[in-house]
Amino acid sequence: MDIKVSGGSIIKGTVFCSGAKNAVIPLLCASLLSKGKVMLRNVPRISDVFDICHILRYLDCKVVFKGHTMLIDNTNLKYKPLFLEECQKIRGSYYFIGVFLALFSKCEILLPGGCKIGSRPIDVHLQAFEDLGFKYFIEDNILTVYKIKVNEEASLVLTKKSVGASINAIFAGLRLNHYEIKNGLYEPEGLDVIHFLQKLGYHLTLNNEVIRYEKSKLDFKLTKHTVIPDRMEAMTYAILGLLKGEVTVKRVNTNDLTCPLKILKDAGYQISYTETEIYAKKSYGKEMHIITDVYPGFPTDLQSVFGVLSLNTIGKSKIEETVFEKRMQIYYDMRDSGAQCEISGNQAIVTGTNKIHSKNYNACDLRHGAALLLLALLGDKESIITNFDYVLRGYDDIINRLKALGGKITII
Ligand code: UD1
Repeated sequence: MDIKVSGGSIIKGTVFCSGAKNAVIPLLCASLLSKGKVMLRNVPRISDVFDICHILRYLDCKVVFKGHTMLIDNTNLKYKPLFLEECQKIRGSYYFIGVFLALFSKCEILLPGGCKIGSRPIDVHLQAFEDLGFKYFIEDNILTVYKIKVNEEASLVLTKKSVGASINAIFAGLRLNHYEIKNGLYEPEGLDVIHFLQKLGYHLTLNNEVIRYEKSKLDFKLTKHTVIPDRMEAMTYAILGLLKGEVTVKRVNTNDLTCPLKILKDAGYQISYTETEIYAKKSYGKEMHIITDVYPGFPTDLQSVFGVLSLNTIGKSKIEETVFEKRMQIYYDMRDSGAQCEISGNQAIVTGTNKIHSKNYNACDLRHGAALLLLALLGDKESIITNFDYVLRGYDDIINRLKALGGKITII
């Protein structure tokens, strides 16, 4: 899908934050681990969710999705190989591996894909599965994980801080009687998944980054859960306010955004917040220095949108990406649009400017696409953004929401 964006508009209004993409994907996969039906509330209507639902229905689950509430009934769940194209479209389809190992002790899946922001190996996941007693092989782009003899108990140390591998190891280990996993990374989205598993009846405890599990008997019941707010979406709209007018974002959890909010405050932007709300008004800040890191550090998923914000600074900002190798495309787009950007490897130095010449852009991934939208809104004329579908993978109803705020956007 391609869109046309006009630069001149003023943005003003209120948005309600959606449920977090990076929480809802593992939650939907984890719904298979329930003994009864699951009701998820605050589910974002994004394409990644529709793709996961497609996989759930292929597995003979009943899925009813009305508004932002989803009811999942896994009574008829059957083991099937996951050779669906949706698995290659979404990175988060890797959570089916852990869930399948917990349920069936095996999984055959097309290697998970997702945004092209670097090599994105799953070696840490695979190592964890091996440490839990599973074996694997990869042939013709298909990963097969199976059990020879699953240990009764395991104690493992993840070899790298990885959001996905930590949750996947938790899932896969539910086959065992007891486990302990060290060096996990539980960002707010991971904690939401752990809370959900606890609600389902799994005896999991988290203490000082060590997660422990004791085998537990599950009851048949309806489990209700509300997905936490999407901190990336909330911050994208707040930055839109800082760049283009005035935006209030409601139903946020600002405790999950301590680091980015502090950077904005320290730079002097007009931003204020309570625990659940952010108010952001057009303003120019001082230069920023941003280095992406694991939580509670600065999130890599906000690096590109902060890159665009750095155009609204007095001075030079330095942005460094440390998590993924290929997330610097926005700085080339900003440079092509007339901004002064010095790019070297995974670092960019951006000089603030209020002159952005509208260009046509091509979205390369979800977060890059969102940043392009902000850049196009700063432009002096009209821009076309091709491959905007990427953005719909993670931002609920973004085109209509932006129109409601005053943005001039049309789908071509
Ligand atoms: C998840 C999010 C993504 C977010 C990222 C960091 C989902 C579906 N995706 O991605 O939106 O940008 O966290 O917050 O939730 N790595 C390895 N081997 C592995 C796993 C990861 O080398 O087996 C590397 C990655 O290439 C990356 C780093 O570890 O450089 C962090 O990756 P990880 O935290 O696992 O991110 P994802 O689960 O891919």
